[in-house]
Amino acid sequence: MQNITSAQAMQRLVLAARRKGQRIGVVPTMGFLHEGHASLIREARVVSDTVITTIFVNPLQFAPNEDFTRYPRDLERDTRLAESAGCDVLFTPTPEEIYPHGFQTTISVGGVTEPFEGVFRPTHFDGVATVVAKLFHLTQPDKAFFGQKDYQQCMVVKKMVSDLAMPLEIVICPTLRETDGLAMSSRNVYLSAEDRQKATVLFQALQVAKTLIQSGERRRMVLEEALKTIILRQSGITIDYAAAADSETLAQPDEFSSEQAVVLLLAVRLGTTRLIDNLVV
Ligand code: PAF
Repeated sequence: MQNITSAQAMQRLVLAARRKGQRIGVVPTMGFLHEGHASLIREARVVSDTVITTIFVNPLQFAPNEDFTRYPRDLERDTRLAESAGCDVLFTPTPEEIYPHGFQTTISVGGVTEPFEGVFRPTHFDGVATVVAKLFHLTQPDKAFFGQKDYQQCMVVKKMVSDLAMPLEIVICPTLRETDGLAMSSRNVYLSAEDRQKATVLFQALQVAKTLIQSGERRRMVLEEALKTIILRQSGITIDYAAAADSETLAQPDEFSSEQAVVLLLAVRLGTTRLIDNLVV
C-alpha cells in the first residue's frame, strides 16, 4: 500500500490510473478506522482496480465548541487496518494541502442539510460538502463509499453529486454494529464504561419503532414519542432529536403513506459524547 500526503501527487496518481482505464474506488474517512470503515474498503475492493482511502480530520466541519482537537487519531493502526482490508493508496493530506493559504470556496447544499444535524450543527454540512468535493477532485473516483451510519451526510453528498453532475456513483453501505447493537463509530472511544452500556438504548429504541412501523403505525408523532420514551428511560441521556422522516427527502409528514420508506433518526448526548444512529424501515 502506498501512502500519499501531497494533493498534487494524489491527483497525478489517479490521472495516470484513469488513463490506463482503471476503475477508482474511494473511501473518505477521518481516520481512527474501525470494522465499519474496513467493510467500506472491502466493498470498494470488489468493484475497483485502485482503492483509495482518505484520512483527513476536516477542521471545516467542526464548530469551535466541538471535538476537533480531541478527535481520536492513530495513523499506525489505520495503516494496518486499511492495508489488510485491501486498500491500495492511503491519502493522508495535511490541512495545508486541502486548504492552501487563501482558500475561499465553500460548497453549500440546501434542503436536506436543514433539519436534524443542520439545526444542531449549522455549519457542519458546508464543511462536509466542501471537503468531500475537494477529495473527489483529488481522487477522481468512479465510486465513493459512505457508511449509512451518517445517514443525513449520505443524502447531502448524493444531492451535491447530482446537482453538480459530478461523474461518480455514491455507494451507501450498511451500518456495522457491535454485538449489543451499538453502531460502530470512532467517537465510541469517548464513552465511559457506564455510558457505553447506556448507549445500547439507541438501537433498542430503533428496534421498537421499527416493529411499530411494521405492524402498520404510520403516524409520525406516535413513532417519535416511542423513540423518545424508550431513550429517556435511561438516565443521563439528553435527546437532540428522535425523528421519523421520509427516507429520500427527509420530509416530515404527519402521517407516512404505506409506500413511503421511513428513516428513524437519532442524535443524543451521553455525558460529553454526542451519538447518532438511524434505521430505514
Ligand atoms: O464521515 C466522515 O468521516 C466525514 O464526514 C467525511 C465524509 C470523511 C468528510 O470529512
